[in-house]
Amino acid sequence: MLKGKHIILGITGGIAAYKSVSLLRLFVKAGAEVQVVITPSGKEFITPVTLSALSGKPVISEFFTANTGSWNSHVDLGLWADAMVIAPATASTLGKMAHGIVDNMLVTTYLSSKCPVFIAPAMDLDMFKHPSTAANLELLRSYGNHIIEPAAGELASHLIGKGRMEEPENIFAVLERFFSEKKTMEGKKVLITAGPTYEKIDPVRFIGNYSTGKMGYCIADEFVARGASVTIVSGPVSVKPKNQDVKVVSVESALEMRDAFMERFEGADIAVMCAAVADYRPEVVADRKIKREKDDIPVITLVKNPDIAAEAGRKKREDQILVGFALETDNAVANAQDKLARKNLDMIVLNSLSEQTGFGVDTNKVTVIERSGTSTTFDLKSKVEVAKDIVNLISEKA
Ligand code: CTP
Repeated sequence: MLKGKHIILGITGGIAAYKSVSLLRLFVKAGAEVQVVITPSGKEFITPVTLSALSGKPVISEFFTANTGSWNSHVDLGLWADAMVIAPATASTLGKMAHGIVDNMLVTTYLSSKCPVFIAPAMDLDMFKHPSTAANLELLRSYGNHIIEPAAGELASHLIGKGRMEEPENIFAVLERFFSEKKTMEGKKVLITAGPTYEKIDPVRFIGNYSTGKMGYCIADEFVARGASVTIVSGPVSVKPKNQDVKVVSVESALEMRDAFMERFEGADIAVMCAAVADYRPEVVADRKIKREKDDIPVITLVKNPDIAAEAGRKKREDQILVGFALETDNAVANAQDKLARKNLDMIVLNSLSEQTGFGVDTNKVTVIERSGTSTTFDLKSKVEVAKDIVNLISEKA
């Protein structure tokens, strides 16, 4: 998968820099062309001679080459690369990358690059736990960078905790997977519903639910990473897509979600219905705040909301793929199968509800049931990983 790929390997000043040598060897062995860019403090930990001997290219560290005075163009490098991997990434480099402080060749190259960027942080456990590191990582994630989380274990300080750079083999595997999955969805248009809906009672109150939209947004990011063009019709949520190419259409109520979705459904190749749409809405929305009046308990009469998935199922063409979600507390599989048939879905993702799954948490455990009856149960994973599993199954049909 990495044969012929152009990779910038960024190395910063941390003990884990010795592991970058193994990572470099793995890339070179796989047939990739690697350009090492090292920060000045990185050179305190590993010598450029070793790195240039293994990569077959002079290592770049300064803006100018000392003996010839020639200029190392960070712009050309940024355009040359198919991927940039920064391993190890120290807390200081993370901060500079997150805030655009370009005082060395590595961060300058990062800012000029147009390719996917993979960051493998490495630092002491307390530095990793510090809110500023967490905030910088969150910012870097929100810019679409891939963070390869550090592992837990014994650190250079002999303290035990999270902060160890992920092993070179695992970083290599992330890159391999990325290139094998990427672009398989090029040209596909994907429409996703996500989040809750709010059904107005009066100007200050609504009926809603605990959905946070995380699962739908992870699926959107995964489709974009594989080259699809993606629109999320989203209820009120605080999450944002990590990838800026995801288009978000914000709505509030089920009726608004239905209109925004149906307007776009005909042009979609794949629709994934992740939203927790309120089944009912108040029949009448009070135009003023409902006041607490003595002895008078208001009654809110509800009416049915449209079933967006079922409407899409009725209008679906042969060449469109429609995927639904289900969260069941009883007879889960039978109920999900029934929903799949009733709404004319091609696939239904059955969520389980526990402390580690469901609303608001970062992990999920799903069973995917296909129209053919095939069902696949996955382990408990992060929602990012669950999104990959779901998109893998959808892409087999697309
Ligand atoms: N769905 C939808 N519009 C609705 C209700 C549900 O598009 N008004 C979609 C959901 O996004 C999900 C699937 O239908 O993909 C199943 O949602 P769920 O709430 O489990 O189904 P309901 O039909 O509401 O069934 P019930 O609440 O009785 O379990």
